[in-house]
Amino acid sequence: MNFAWIKKIFASPARYATFAAVACILLMTPTLPGQSQTTSSTKSNAVTNSVLTPPPLLLGTAWYPEQWPESRWNADLDLMQKAGIRFVRIGEFAWSSLEPAEGDYHLGWLERAIDDAGRHGIYSVVGTPTAAPPAWLTQKYPETLRMEENGRKAEHGNRQQFNWDDPKYRELAHDIAGRMAQRYGHNPYVIGWQIDNEYAAVSFDPRTRADFQSWLQHRYGTLDNLNTRWTTAYWSQTYSNWDQVPIETSRGNPGLLLSWKRFVSDTWRSYQKNQLDAIRQYASPRQFITTNMMGWFQGYNHYVVARDLDLASWDDYIGEGHLNAYVNGSTDDLTRGFKQKNFWVMETQPGHVNWAPDNNDLNKGEVRAMAWHNVGHGADAVSYWQWRSALNGQEQYHGTLVGPDGTPVPLYTEVAQIGREFTKAGPTLAGTSPKSQVAILHTYGSVWAIDWQRHNKAYDPIVELLSYYQPLRDISQSIDIVQPTVPLDQYKLVVAPGLNVLSNEAANNLIQYVKNGGHLVLGQRSGMKNDDNGLQPERQPGPLVSLLGGRVEQYYALIDPAPIHGQFGDNTSKLWAELLSTSSPDTQVLATYGKSNGWLDGKPAIITRKIGKGSITYVGVWMDEAGMAKLAQWMTNMSGVTPAFGPVPAGVEVDPRYGKDHTVFILVNLANGTQTVPLPRSMQDVLHGGSVQSVNLPRYGVAVLSEAKK
Ligand code: GLA
Repeated sequence: MNFAWIKKIFASPARYATFAAVACILLMTPTLPGQSQTTSSTKSNAVTNSVLTPPPLLLGTAWYPEQWPESRWNADLDLMQKAGIRFVRIGEFAWSSLEPAEGDYHLGWLERAIDDAGRHGIYSVVGTPTAAPPAWLTQKYPETLRMEENGRKAEHGNRQQFNWDDPKYRELAHDIAGRMAQRYGHNPYVIGWQIDNEYAAVSFDPRTRADFQSWLQHRYGTLDNLNTRWTTAYWSQTYSNWDQVPIETSRGNPGLLLSWKRFVSDTWRSYQKNQLDAIRQYASPRQFITTNMMGWFQGYNHYVVARDLDLASWDDYIGEGHLNAYVNGSTDDLTRGFKQKNFWVMETQPGHVNWAPDNNDLNKGEVRAMAWHNVGHGADAVSYWQWRSALNGQEQYHGTLVGPDGTPVPLYTEVAQIGREFTKAGPTLAGTSPKSQVAILHTYGSVWAIDWQRHNKAYDPIVELLSYYQPLRDISQSIDIVQPTVPLDQYKLVVAPGLNVLSNEAANNLIQYVKNGGHLVLGQRSGMKNDDNGLQPERQPGPLVSLLGGRVEQYYALIDPAPIHGQFGDNTSKLWAELLSTSSPDTQVLATYGKSNGWLDGKPAIITRKIGKGSITYVGVWMDEAGMAKLAQWMTNMSGVTPAFGPVPAGVEVDPRYGKDHTVFILVNLANGTQTVPLPRSMQDVLHGGSVQSVNLPRYGVAVLSEAKK
């Protein structure tokens, strides 16, 4: 037995306690004469509850032990341990090592890797390897290869070549996931599971098409109903048999396009459920199940796919450029909204990626700033992809924490600092999460629908959403991004920047919210479509017209910005302008258009109506930053939204996380120079200790402050 790791533990007193406890319990588990060596799943029962409660804030990395000789593992784990890494993401993509030939399972090496990591105080999140089926599998079962939209079959040699809808592939995926769960599902060092990896590539094979047609039959019941809802009389699209319905992804009938995306979302969900059930059958309920999503990626409805998961996680890559607190923070907030609770950053870049046009590194200090920024937005774990590059393979140039020689790269020390800080701040952050007085509403259907028919090529619905997010975040210092169907009464202000597809369920929820005293603000293109992506006959905002006491008379895609004036000073609407009208005497006009295309001249641009203690506002313009800032000021004033913390210098981000009896504020300085931030009250400095009245933050500086609730 190699005791080198014990010496390392003794050299690190902080970790001694944990390891000593693990070692004692393992040693106390007797192996009786004649009894074979206990497997880790039997060992696990002895240690589960007593030792292995994972820390509340976790630093992690993606580790691929199958790419390295086993004799190397301890050296890697020693280095991880020194950096304060507390979990590895392990096993994803390793199918050819776990089952090198059909039915020939080699699950022992992964168990040894998990146990070795565990002995270093490092937990494991086990990934199912289904994003990378082995060559024997797709050769023997060619139907498991997906078909691209142009009819070409995907091939081996890359990843994501599998067909997500194929029954044979699902059977094989269920088998490997179940076997892994049987083997590792009670291992005390395994804290969770990641199913597959970054769902994205779908199949267009004949079976998928037939399944789509059955899905349509289930949704619409009769062809008459489908034909009516899709208005298929248009261009003679009328269907007389389900098997006539094609797959369209960009230029088809809007009802068909939206249905295909919904089918894709449901199919990813059932693809995932297949593995989830296999894992749940064997794994301990204390092990969570997630999948790593991709932020604003539009391939499927993340709310649907997140429904069966225990927690949401995402892969946070900047690619080219630097950390933008609004773009990145909104993506964190979006991910938090999938389950309306804290989430994990399952992958992030250790300095640089390899797939952007220019793969610049984050500056010194920026990786740490980004980790804390993520935590501020509700991440309970941040994990670097990856630990060490495979010597060959597609991603040789990607950032890592150790080089090809297995020794640390310069960034390692910065990550080790994050490790120390996470350990220190973890107990204070335990049980805390962000919450906001402001909700921004988002639906996939709306984003897709606008994207399919932008009408002005520069009209990006996510950019429009961010034009509201940024000034609102500056004022409120915390934003929730949620679906319009969730309970909204907790919010003082609800803003729907582009709620293009508005279901009756969502509309009723919004009406109720306003009637209960809430303040609702609708942005451009809202309420134009019904749940089948058909036009609302009342015009915009559809079922909200009568509550608003006004509507959109016409929309105009703009080549030249349209001037506006009124409540928010003189500004312009870029890209798009909506001519509004009022139909109720108590609907007020807040801004009107100046001289523009003649149609808009002098007409209402922003209207609002009080409903009891609440209100509904329609904003027909998309102003520049200064205008949006004034609009945000007005929205927050009239709805009584207050800042979570108080004034901070420009470039300093404030992120509140609320616990039962205390609040934590994370401050991150992304401005160029040092910033002094006076605190509204004296607070505990969690990283450095003591009570402070103000903090000095150099560029990329971080402060973690805590105060008891009054
Ligand atoms: C994705 C994948 C990883 C890796 C990284 C590289 O997020 O999930 O396997 O390819 O990109 O940035």
